[in-house]
Amino acid sequence: MFNSNAADRVVQELRGLAGAAAAGTRLPSVRELTDRHQASPVTVAAAIRQLVAEGLVETRSGRGTFVAARPVAPLSPPDLSWQTVALGPRRFGEEEMQALLALPPSGTIPLTGGYLDADLQPAAALGAALARAARQPAVWQRGPVEGRDDLRAWFARETQPSSGDGLQAADMVICPGGQAALSSALRALTEPGDTLLVESPTYLGALAAAHAAGLRVVPVPADRDGVRPDQLAAAFTRTGARLFYCQPLHANPTGATLSPARRPAVLAAIHAAGAFLIEDDYARDLTIDGDPPPPLAATDPDGHVVYLRSLTKSAAPGLRVAALGARGPAGARLRAARLLDDFFVAGPLQQATIEFVTSPAWSRHRRRLRTELRTRREALLTALTRHLPALLPTAVPAGGLHLWSPLPPGTDDVAVAATAATAGVTVFPGRPWHAAEPPSPHLRLTYAAAPPSAMDEAVRRLATALPRSPKT
Ligand SMILES: Cc1ncc(COP(=O)(O)O)c(C=O)c1O
Repeated sequence: MFNSNAADRVVQELRGLAGAAAAGTRLPSVRELTDRHQASPVTVAAAIRQLVAEGLVETRSGRGTFVAARPVAPLSPPDLSWQTVALGPRRFGEEEMQALLALPPSGTIPLTGGYLDADLQPAAALGAALARAARQPAVWQRGPVEGRDDLRAWFARETQPSSGDGLQAADMVICPGGQAALSSALRALTEPGDTLLVESPTYLGALAAAHAAGLRVVPVPADRDGVRPDQLAAAFTRTGARLFYCQPLHANPTGATLSPARRPAVLAAIHAAGAFLIEDDYARDLTIDGDPPPPLAATDPDGHVVYLRSLTKSAAPGLRVAALGARGPAGARLRAARLLDDFFVAGPLQQATIEFVTSPAWSRHRRRLRTELRTRREALLTALTRHLPALLPTAVPAGGLHLWSPLPPGTDDVAVAATAATAGVTVFPGRPWHAAEPPSPHLRLTYAAAPPSAMDEAVRRLATALPRSPKT
């Protein structure tokens, strides 16, 4: 088994030896290193691979590991100052995206992260499917650029819960994850300078991608029932926008689901404006209570809905497989845009995905997920009730990965998140999820990333990071 402490010790020893010895010097054998550091051969091999990648050592087949030749150091440091002028200002949202994807420091309890905890990921089934896929020579060949037909058909069927009214296989294109799909869709459906309407608050990766595409982002208020259709219609009229991005199911960050009463009104506003709606269905498999409503794309004969479905949230962040679907010329635009962006998704990954989602392991995984997410959500709610009742969300989300916790008015959410990190718990501030001024401060608390047993301690630590209310 891989053991990171032992690996660190092996890396340290080899790094020291390689730094002190001449190029070509033989380094200790794998056997010696396993004995000396009580490490498995797998751990030693991983440590050696790291140093080979760094260019410090080289392996020679059947002969062992040697100190690599060192590159000659440049005489003077490079002058990169010209880049500051050439590049101009930094892009909106990039720093927030880095924070969003940062790995929590060891020792902290993560109430952040947009993905399932490793314990909840179907790693064994995915690994087995990928190993089988990789052994099939055909998967390394060039396949259809829109993706495998069977995988496109599977994604299309997900939009046809009861009838055949949803998207068809030919409408779909396979993408390497939801973020890539979103960036391509925004660029394919707009020109720089266009306006994008978004429900507010919304996924900060969508805001960042929209800015990168040169779009003007206009927020539309949403509440516990999803986006407000009256405000959406007004925003279309006022801005002349032709595109609206939303997550009708367990929206990130609020967890809100578009209510049955609002669904037809939202679709009517889209029709009236002659606009497209990007439906980011990232949480389709993350419903905890009841049954999820069908996607909006299931009842959209005239092609207003552009459907986006990623498997990274349902399964594992490394399963970078998603699909975009749209009818008519919009579908053709999306497929053309994907081709420009990166040709197609790796064949072995597509083959492994279709194997996985059509196997019994997939339904088993989703059943288990529902129970586990419920346990974690309840554990976080219980801990909040005990230590920080003021932060209980106004509505408990019926699914998804997060709670949207209100902070007392006037609290600096960014400062709270920074202090919480030093207290040993990571949380995400609410501010970056807004395209304009946030109406009130919030934290996004993720319940999917830490075990239920850690929730009480996590919230206790968070309580120490909140400013004390003044004594009356
Ligand atoms: C709502 C939403 N859409 C899309 C994504 C992109 O995820 P991925 O690229 O891993 O599929 C995320 C990730 O956090 C998300 O929260």
